[in-house]
Amino acid sequence: MNPTKVRLDKLLSSLGYCSRKKVATLLREGIITHTENLPLKSDTKVAHDEVYFEGEPLDPSQGMVILMHKPTGLICSHDDGEGKLVYDLLPPRWRVRDPKISTVGRLDKETSGLLLLTDDGTLLHRLTSPRHHVAKIYEATLDRALNGNEAEIFASGTLMLNGEKTPCLPAKLTIIDETHVTLEITEGRYHQVRRMFAAVGNHVTALHRCSFGDLTLGDLKEGEYRILDREKIS
Ligand code: URA
Repeated sequence: MNPTKVRLDKLLSSLGYCSRKKVATLLREGIITHTENLPLKSDTKVAHDEVYFEGEPLDPSQGMVILMHKPTGLICSHDDGEGKLVYDLLPPRWRVRDPKISTVGRLDKETSGLLLLTDDGTLLHRLTSPRHHVAKIYEATLDRALNGNEAEIFASGTLMLNGEKTPCLPAKLTIIDETHVTLEITEGRYHQVRRMFAAVGNHVTALHRCSFGDLTLGDLKEGEYRILDREKIS
């Protein structure tokens, strides 16, 4: 099957490289080239992998999924009035891609760990839909020693969070020691893990997401990210 061809200026502006207008100048300067050295104009119809920018292949096309190791202190928001953003860890031109890259759900500012980002609206909707019960595992450090009944309460499917109308779905608590646990949940309610521990009289002092479905961080260090194969996302 032939790859989809689009106008060169449209392709480059959608990937955030430059405005459509700027393409003519960058062609003259030799910054944008054809992989086979064929002549290009702003309106030439090209396939994504036929074009080099500064001698390099283009960034991935639309449908990109990014796995990031979010450090604490960064915010999952597009509004940079609020502080340093997770998007600041990505190349600046990715901020102006169209369609826009968004986080798949959110991690709190003070939560670290596995964060997915994508520009694929359908995938985003599917992974964040309350009907799609993707399992997420968190490591939590607690302020106070466990009482001993938390695993049963979390597994019961009856725990009510402050201000909510329905109980949390059953969640699996694994005890590491009296102030360290992992918790597997299949929902994504606002501040869910912190609020579940608050509901049993404890307080989370550190929170880290170690997995999302089958995905883990592997050897990815804090602040690093990698592009995922689309097939890996179920
Ligand atoms: N639960 C929380 O309390 N915070 C997160 O960031 C994610 C889950």
